[in-house]
Amino acid sequence: MPAFSATAPGKTILFGEHAVVYNRAAIAAPVEQVRAKVYITPNPPGKPGNLKIDAPDIALDCDFDTLPKTNAIRSIIENAGVEFNIEHFPSAHIRIKSTIPIAAGLGSGAAISVALIRALASFLGRQIPDERISALAYEAEKIHHGTPSGIDNTVVTYAQPIYFCKGTAKTKKTNVELLLVGAPISLVVADSGVASPTVQAVAGVRQRWQENPHLYDKIFDNIDEIVDLARRTIESGKARDLGPLMSENQVQLQAIEVSNRQLDYLIQAAMSAGAQGAKLSGAGCGGNLIALATPDTAPGISQALLEAGAVNTIITTIQPTNKGGVL
Ligand code: PMV
Repeated sequence: MPAFSATAPGKTILFGEHAVVYNRAAIAAPVEQVRAKVYITPNPPGKPGNLKIDAPDIALDCDFDTLPKTNAIRSIIENAGVEFNIEHFPSAHIRIKSTIPIAAGLGSGAAISVALIRALASFLGRQIPDERISALAYEAEKIHHGTPSGIDNTVVTYAQPIYFCKGTAKTKKTNVELLLVGAPISLVVADSGVASPTVQAVAGVRQRWQENPHLYDKIFDNIDEIVDLARRTIESGKARDLGPLMSENQVQLQAIEVSNRQLDYLIQAAMSAGAQGAKLSGAGCGGNLIALATPDTAPGISQALLEAGAVNTIITTIQPTNKGGVL
């Protein structure tokens, strides 16, 4: 029996993480070099609803109905069943593979969710619009993250650079725009090697925000302004000018205590090797950082990061786009 398959990329947050949880804007882009892939092989003799899940990268090898109710993969399959209006999926073997590091700020949970929803749709021969894929993946993000902004599932679903702002209590509606990118942006993404579950970093920020709302709201506003400037800089194709904005965003992230010694050290190493700016990316407290490079400087920055202790680096380019606009 042929397998039905689907794939989704990793992602990086260029500007605005954490503040985005508090209704400020953020900018994110896909990282195509790392991906989640899902293969579904039908098992016709099996009973409907009999699904075998095999996900070696997250140490899962079990029958669907043995997964706890709180498991994100279980929740995706159940919610997809509701979406497609079926009681049980036909029996199948679901294999989930991912090269995206886990708990590292590269969107591995969202990518697995999006690839799984697309593969399930294909298995049933059904169409599902991107908006619904993102909404279903968002439900799983709640299990991974507690109070997600929705940026991860959105950028991974659309696989294009986005400008994202969660609706406020007043506006309700989330503003998602495809970002116009005026010129290529070269980045080195580096893994600090410290696993950092997003749920913990986000909960820590929330606790400190509750203790000191004035200070934290001011910092979130500062980040919001940086995002606005970054957006205009990206649109006008002045990639070099993003460096100081990234470094300023990092200062604000240090102020909300989501950077750490290892990230600060690696960021310094990237700057010494010629990066135009650098910051942590994602939840922080570990995970990945991004350094702004050029095609010429990227290999040297990558090498310097590895020598300074990064466990892995990815050289990636955000390609120009010719269409922006509200999604
Ligand atoms: O999943 P991560 O580690 O890339 O973090 C997501 C970004 C946060 O702003 C920290 C959380 C969120 O839901 O937006």
